[in-house]
Amino acid sequence: MTNTLLILPGDGIGPEVMAEVHRIIDWYGTKRDLKFEVTEDLVGGAAYDAHGKPLSDATMAKAQEVDAVLLGAVGGPKYDTLDFSLKPERGLLRLRKEMDLFANLRPAQCFDALADFSSLKRDVVSGLDIMIVRELTSGIYFGEPRGIIEEGGQRVGLNTQRYTEAEIDRVARSAFELARKRGNKVCSMEKANVMESGILWREVVQKVHDESYPDVELSHMYADAGGMQLCRWPKQFDVILTDNLFGDLLSDVAAMLTGSLGMLPSASLGAPMENGRPKAMYEPVHGSAPDIAGQGKANPIACILSFAMALRYSFDEGAEATRLEKAVEKVLGDGVRTADLMGAEGGTPVSTAQMGDAILAALDASL
Ligand code: IPM
Ligand code: MG
Repeated sequence: MTNTLLILPGDGIGPEVMAEVHRIIDWYGTKRDLKFEVTEDLVGGAAYDAHGKPLSDATMAKAQEVDAVLLGAVGGPKYDTLDFSLKPERGLLRLRKEMDLFANLRPAQCFDALADFSSLKRDVVSGLDIMIVRELTSGIYFGEPRGIIEEGGQRVGLNTQRYTEAEIDRVARSAFELARKRGNKVCSMEKANVMESGILWREVVQKVHDESYPDVELSHMYADAGGMQLCRWPKQFDVILTDNLFGDLLSDVAAMLTGSLGMLPSASLGAPMENGRPKAMYEPVHGSAPDIAGQGKANPIACILSFAMALRYSFDEGAEATRLEKAVEKVLGDGVRTADLMGAEGGTPVSTAQMGDAILAALDASL
C-alpha cells in the first residue's frame, strides 16, 4: 500500500517547522525504507493570498483523497480585518468539518527534562501523560441557528450548542478504545447541571460504556470542576472525553501544564476510508506565532510529534512513532533547547534547523 500525505504548512512559523518534518520524512524513506508520496499545498492566509479563499476547493478535494493531512499553522495579524468567512481559521474548520474528523486527540505529556517549565510544581506534573479526546465537528462551533441578528432594536449574537446521540456515541467510542490501550480510564466532562446537551452527553456516554466498554473505568465531571482538577492534580486523569468548546478550553489548560505549547501534537480522526485507514489530519497545538515567524527560532517539536502521531494512527507504524518520540526525548534530555525552552539558567538556544539536526542525529543513533 502506498502512503500518501498532503502537507499544508500554512502561515507564520508553519512553513519553517514543516521544513524539519520534511527532513524527518526523508530520513524514514532512506533509513527505514518507509516511503511517503508527499504533495504540498496552501491553507489559511497563504491560500487567501493566492486564491482569495482560506482553502481552495481543489485543496479540499486532495485532502479527501490522501491517507493523512499534515498541517502547520494558520493565521496572522495581516488577516485580522478580513470578513469572517475568509479568515484563515475558516480553512482549518472546513477541513475538519468536510473530512468529518470528529475525534480530536490532544495528548498532554510532560517531558521530564522540561518539568521545571510548568507553572505548577514539578511533583504535580512530572510524568504527566493524559489524552484529551475533543469532539471536533459539532457542538457550538457548527450548530444552527447562528449569526448576529436584530431583535427589539438591538443586535443579538447567537450560537447554538447541539449534539445528536450519534455524534456523542461515536466520539465516546473513540475515547474508550484509546483508554483500553492506555490507563483504561475515561473521565467525561460536560455541564449536565445547566445544559440539556450536557444531560444527553452524560446519558449517551454512560450507555456506550455499559453496553460496550464495561471494563473501562468511567467517571463524569462538570467541565468547570474538570478545569480546576486539571490544575490541582492532573495525574488523576488518563483519557478526558469532552465536547468541542470545552475541549478547546481544557486542552489549552492541559497544554500549559506541560510547560510548553511548542511541544504538543494533535491528531484529528474520522471514519475509516476504503483502505481501512481513518480520515486523518495532524497538526501542532500551537498557533502561527507571527511575532517570531521567519527567524528560524520556532520549536519544530510539536509538528514533528504530530508526524509521529500520523505514523501511529494512519500508517500503523507504532514502533517507528515510538522511535521518533524517543529521539525527541533524548535530545531534550541532552539539553538541546529552542528559544521557547530557555529557562532561568540561560544558555544559548538552537535554531529550528539545529533542533531538526539534533533529532535526526538521535534517529541515526537509534538504528
Ligand atoms: C484549536 C484552535 C482552533 C479552535 C481555532 C484556530 C479555530 O484554537 O485548534 O484549538 O478553536 O478549534
Ligand atoms: Mg484552541
